[in-house]
Amino acid sequence: MIKGRIFSGMQPSGKFHLGNYLGALENWVRLQNNYECFFSIVDLHALTSSFENTSKIPENIHNMALDWLSAGLDPEKNVIFIQSHVKEHAELHLLLSMMTPLSWLERVPTYKDKLQQLGVQGKDINTYGFLGYPVLMTADIILYKADTVPVGEDQIPHLELAREIVRRFNNMYKPVFPEPQAQLSQAPTLPGIDGRKMSKSYGNEIPYAASPDELRARVRQMVTDPQRIKKTDAGNPEVCTVHKFHKIFNASQLNQISESCRQASIGCVECKKCLAEQMVVNLADIHVRRSEFEANPGRVKEILIFGAERARKVAAATMEEVRQVMHL
Ligand code: TRP
Repeated sequence: MIKGRIFSGMQPSGKFHLGNYLGALENWVRLQNNYECFFSIVDLHALTSSFENTSKIPENIHNMALDWLSAGLDPEKNVIFIQSHVKEHAELHLLLSMMTPLSWLERVPTYKDKLQQLGVQGKDINTYGFLGYPVLMTADIILYKADTVPVGEDQIPHLELAREIVRRFNNMYKPVFPEPQAQLSQAPTLPGIDGRKMSKSYGNEIPYAASPDELRARVRQMVTDPQRIKKTDAGNPEVCTVHKFHKIFNASQLNQISESCRQASIGCVECKKCLAEQMVVNLADIHVRRSEFEANPGRVKEILIFGAERARKVAAATMEEVRQVMHL
């Protein structure tokens, strides 16, 4: 049974890691069976913070498409496309920008934070486009009249703003758009190999595209219970990063492994080996699909072109309606 229509997107930043997969993509793969889904590689959003150097965009887009397809997103079932291939995103963004009060945008909590954060890194994004980031995001969603938007918690303020813009539009002209709701994923968050939040900027990430050998190497580098120095010391799984990974990738052996750690009957080296092999097995389908698509870049291109054609049809119909109710 189809429950509604989904839109979601990700910026092609070239930083996709295993934490992003578990937090978002794995959820999308589940949702594709119950919703009509539009998934977009949002390259225009990527421009809002990296407009000076755009040379990596094509490569990042291709890699993101590989990430999605290898996760098992079905390009027939879902509409998978590149945002800038569907010009209606830019058009609707412009129209919405006319009716969005500046104060609403300046009030978005992520706005000032991000400005400051990137400012510290030496990036000046005091631009019109960056302030309008959530307006573009609103255009993305409502072009397809999506009612459900699977996102991370950090995106909640953007969805609130999207609903405000929709209400304003619907009241001012005619009720064209449904109010989109955020849908948070229940997935547990995966720490980085040093136990902090997984992030490429910390260098503690496990790349989503890691090969089995890279996976094993990253697991070997994981921090364990710092109190457990010798193998004969009893360990405390509660403070161990490897344990957090066992919870996610090796649930069936979790209790047994924790007990063995507490009794010092298994050492960290062996515990890590066991985890790495479980991860390799769990991610095997993804690796197989990835190598298939990697061997066929033409197919990936075709999928994105096909997706843009399908997206454009829906987007163009919405814009017809928008122009009509706005007397354009
Ligand atoms: N802002 C989102 C993020 O950084 C990406 C995004 C752009 C998006 N447009 C969207 C997400 C529309 C959901 C719906 O994660």
